Amino acid sequence: MPTLSGKSALVTGGSRGIGAAIAKRLAKDGADVAVTYSSSPERAQQVADQIVKDGGKALAIKADAADQAAVRAAVEQASKAFGKIDILVNNAGVLALGPIANYPVEDFERALSVNVRSVFTAIQESLRHMPDGGRIITIGSVNSERMPFVGGSVYALTKGAVASFTKGLARDLGERKITVNNIQPGPVDTEANPASGPFAETMLGLLAMKRYGRGDEIAALTAYLAGPEAGYITGASLLIDGGFAA
Ligand SMILES: NC(=O)c1ccc[n+]([C@@H]2O[C@H](COP(=O)([O-])OP(=O)(O)OC[C@H]3O[C@@H](n4cnc5c(N)ncnc54)[C@H](OP(=O)(O)O)[C@@H]3O)[C@@H](O)[C@H]2O)c1
Repeated sequence: MPTLSGKSALVTGGSRGIGAAIAKRLAKDGADVAVTYSSSPERAQQVADQIVKDGGKALAIKADAADQAAVRAAVEQASKAFGKIDILVNNAGVLALGPIANYPVEDFERALSVNVRSVFTAIQESLRHMPDGGRIITIGSVNSERMPFVGGSVYALTKGAVASFTKGLARDLGERKITVNNIQPGPVDTEANPASGPFAETMLGLLAMKRYGRGDEIAALTAYLAGPEAGYITGASLLIDGGFAA
């Protein structure tokens, strides 16, 4: 019996990159999976179609994480389709870089709304549909612990916010046996941070493992935290960073 058989999951930002890898892995482990996207309907549908082709149940939902009403509606739609949400993965995020001296306040507010407020909203709404024993997992970043280059202060702020939010939520939800954890990846090869990009050489110099991570490696840790063996892990921020913070 697959470990997540009978479970339902919602993965925000599941059309590509880390979120798509997580959606596919949770489905492989037996969960029904809904993914949200903001601008890639075809790619989100491809992820859902692949899951269905492999024998699973899946759904792609348009929901800009910056739009609270859309996030709420996406949670509602997923829980209606599957009957409940056992696993929420807050993955949608933007890498908003720029030096602080002239960082536009509009970009600051967008980074906060996508990387932080949408996490709050998705959790609050999902809790209405989450049975006791559920799992909340957020994709933070190693940059909440180490920001070794110029221009990452706002991004680090947003990822630090979700790390400390995780601790408080673990206390709030412990009685319901809902675990809340924050995965902090180092550089992972995606369109947001390509292993072949202009920044790659700098990144490699900062890594003990001298390579970028892969989405499926982040997905494996997510699946473990979502699964039955991880019921005693809560309030944790777990690094999976190739030694970036070492
Ligand atoms: N890659 C890394 O090195 C790395 C390292 C540490 C942490 N992270 C974190 O991991 C998460 C995923 O990053 P990634 O590298 O996989 O990024 P990515 O390749 O750019 O993919 C981002 C995903 O999030 C979705 N998304 C972006 N903005 C959204 C919005 N406003 N509303 C709804 N969905 C939105 C995108 O959907 P569309 O296709 O519709 O745009 C896409 O599915 C982020 O939270 C990021 O901060 C990444």
